[in-house]
Amino acid sequence: MPGDRLVEGRAVTLEVNGHPCRLTIDPRLSLLDLLRDRLGLTGAKKGCDHGQCGACTLIVDGRAVLGCLTLAARLDGARVTSIEGLAPDADDDGGALHPMQQAFIDHDAFQCGYCTPGQILSAVALIAAEPQPDDARIREHMSGNLCRCAAYPNIVAAVRAAADRMGGA
Ligand code: FES
Ligand code: FES
Repeated sequence: MPGDRLVEGRAVTLEVNGHPCRLTIDPRLSLLDLLRDRLGLTGAKKGCDHGQCGACTLIVDGRAVLGCLTLAARLDGARVTSIEGLAPDADDDGGALHPMQQAFIDHDAFQCGYCTPGQILSAVALIAAEPQPDDARIREHMSGNLCRCAAYPNIVAAVRAAADRMGGA
């Protein structure tokens, strides 16, 4: 088509949820689209696709990032964790959830659940960096993760409880 340009693929190697992935990708591809469209990992949600809502939050090399604003081609060699990789053995037969996932259930910290994967990964990254944040710090850190169901008080309670359960680990 007129105006279309041929874009050369870029080879990239990532570790996604503990599994090595070698892919050739469009250099314009976001990490969010890579996970959702190429790898079938749809836990990270596309809300705004403009860095405004936090629904696409992922953990890259231990830090929370917005998948929609992160170019996958720049992540060669990175370790990526999505919600699917947080407790890979969890299942209906008794495999345990991650303490943060369990705390969200215990504290009723979601309604529709659309924001929840991003909320959980953002909180996990916070606790890894700051094992015992107070409520103000939790609110500040999570301020980029919007919840249209306004489950904020329960989300803060869940993060605090998970931090206690994780024992500062
Ligand atoms: Fe990435 Fe909204 S989809 S911040
Ligand atoms: Fe519905 Fe947060 S639980 S958007």
